[in-house]
Amino acid sequence: MQFQNFRANIEEINPSDFDLGSRSLSLLREDQVHSVVSGNKFRKLKYNLEQAKAIGSKTLVTFGGAYSNHLAATAFAGASAGFNTIGIVRGEELAPRIAANPTLSYAQEQGMELRFIPRSLYKMKSEVGILDNLLKDRANLYLLPEGGTNELAVKGCTEILDDRTSQFDYICVSVGTGGTLAGILRSASPKQITIGYSALKGTFQKELIHRYCGEVPYTLVDDHCFGGYGKIDSNLIRFINNFKRSTGIPLDPVYTGKMMYGIMDGIKSGLFKENSRILAVHTGGLQGISGMNQRLKKKQLPQII
Ligand SMILES: Cc1ncc(COP(=O)(O)O)c(C=O)c1O
Repeated sequence: MQFQNFRANIEEINPSDFDLGSRSLSLLREDQVHSVVSGNKFRKLKYNLEQAKAIGSKTLVTFGGAYSNHLAATAFAGASAGFNTIGIVRGEELAPRIAANPTLSYAQEQGMELRFIPRSLYKMKSEVGILDNLLKDRANLYLLPEGGTNELAVKGCTEILDDRTSQFDYICVSVGTGGTLAGILRSASPKQITIGYSALKGTFQKELIHRYCGEVPYTLVDDHCFGGYGKIDSNLIRFINNFKRSTGIPLDPVYTGKMMYGIMDGIKSGLFKENSRILAVHTGGLQGISGMNQRLKKKQLPQII
């Protein structure tokens, strides 16, 4: 596994493809670290895996829903680093349907042991005793929170930006838990303006960002969450497909598609200054496209290409 010293490519969008005015728009291709597992996941896991090794843990345990990028990433990175992995999955009803679910079957192929629990119990997983009871048959475990965000994950995400990215005026990133944004805020230069695009309804991630970064200037919006986590409409599908046709760059429907839609909207509305340079972090999530396409087919909506 080569994520230790991964340096993502920076790709500039051809200004003739979109109406950017005097601005430039580039993507930091964190998605290219691995064909299934995206860059911010590797960044979040890097120091956690080092720590798990250092304390002699043999098994990583984590959590996720049916199409979780984090589950897939932990399964792959854990196996590559010689760990056993356990994924606690939200929804008992998924247990008989592993083969039909591209994310869960991928995680299982990587050797992840999947344990399905009812949604009601999943909600209570942080309460005392719940996990001990679920995992009482196993010892020496290293626990990774849902979404993978903890102090070591934020530390790993500080490595997303580097000496090349300081030339940009704006850094844009998609936000789930806020861990990736927190790492970026720690390493962005003071003159850079950082904008987070929430993939979920609300900007509740501000609390977590404050915990990791204290009082720092940034903007977090949920104006382009399309109604909430995992929600999508034909307008967003059309945008993602047009973006791919014009640039050759795939976007995922849950995170980066919504971020890029928000950036293009911001360019139209004048949010970004004239002559400014914008860097969008492509955090990946592309493994989720086939699962989303299954759902779109059922709803008779167009497919993501
Ligand atoms: C592809 C992708 N982009 C962005 C994010 C958001 O990361 P964070 O949870 O650190 O805010 C996630 C989180 O799961 C993700 O899978």
